[in-house]
Amino acid sequence: MNILSEIKQPIQDSFLLFQNTYDEVLSSANPTLALLLEHIKKSKGKQMRPMLVMLSAGICGGITENTIHAAVALELLHTASLIHDDVVDDSDERRGMSSVKSLFNNKVSVLGGDYVLSVGLSEATATADANIISTLASLGKQLADGEIFQMDNTKLKLFDENAYFNVIRNKTASLFASCAKIGAISSKNADMELELKISAIGEIIGLCFQIKDDIFDFNPDAETGKPSGKDLLEGKITLPLIYVYNNADTHTKTAILSALDEVDVAYIQKVVREQGGIEYANQRLMNLQQRALEMLDVFHDSPYKSSLKRYIEYVSERKN
Ligand code: IPE
Ligand code: IPE
Ligand code: MG
Ligand code: MG
Repeated sequence: MNILSEIKQPIQDSFLLFQNTYDEVLSSANPTLALLLEHIKKSKGKQMRPMLVMLSAGICGGITENTIHAAVALELLHTASLIHDDVVDDSDERRGMSSVKSLFNNKVSVLGGDYVLSVGLSEATATADANIISTLASLGKQLADGEIFQMDNTKLKLFDENAYFNVIRNKTASLFASCAKIGAISSKNADMELELKISAIGEIIGLCFQIKDDIFDFNPDAETGKPSGKDLLEGKITLPLIYVYNNADTHTKTAILSALDEVDVAYIQKVVREQGGIEYANQRLMNLQQRALEMLDVFHDSPYKSSLKRYIEYVSERKN
């Protein structure tokens, strides 16, 4: 059995309900939109976020109908943000297939992304829980904030870890934290204290997830289902490069700056790999992972807890 199926073991039945609802709500009578939605249903991704919603609900008291609606809402918000992200990053491949923006065009992607987001909002409304809906609304703002902050940073060429962690906390970790939080809110015995604990774990998982994603970008042979070297092509300065630049001699610093100007992706990938950038980022990732695992200790043992442990480990082991 692969790791993801193993992780899904205790939430199998709920996951099936999630899948069915996800497929059902993504429909439209408009032919172009219908084509776009079919494409979205065919290219599903790892579905890490709905898994986290359900495991979090499970560990906090039990999965409910609202957990399923919320899981659909969050996966749709995530998917919409990726449709838009590929426009922003001018990226042609997503989930091992053509991105929506390359299959259609930028205009259809902006509008189609809005449509998918709105379907997600309808699912959130189906929970009739103001706390879930407002968490989702704040999240939407935070995701856009993170992306815009990243664009401004890219222009400034900041080799600054704090700025980097600020970006990834907003653009990625906030979504994982919200999945955990909303899972807890939707659970049978919603408890404020557990909700805070599981959201904090979700946030750390999200940081780990983005660091791992940023490491992939320095490996031209990684088979992630999306282009490698894309961050560098866009001038994005991520953790492995920040470390190498700040610890490099003057000559290498100058070489890195001109490689960024000339968009010499291969040079930067090489220098970062040779000068310990990947090891450093992995070390930071493993430290965060350890912290998340320790924070899980306060929860009672259960199949959900074992799965969450595997989930946390998978984030650093994953190959795509
Ligand atoms: C992609 O997330 C966006 C990042 C936070 C790096 P995933 O790698 O979870 O994307 P899918 O949903 O599996 O395609
Ligand atoms: C993905 O960001 C979108 C969000 C996290 C909102 P990236 O641009 O870094 O991720 P990929 O590599 O395209 O998936
Ligand atoms: Mg992006
Ligand atoms: Mg991108």
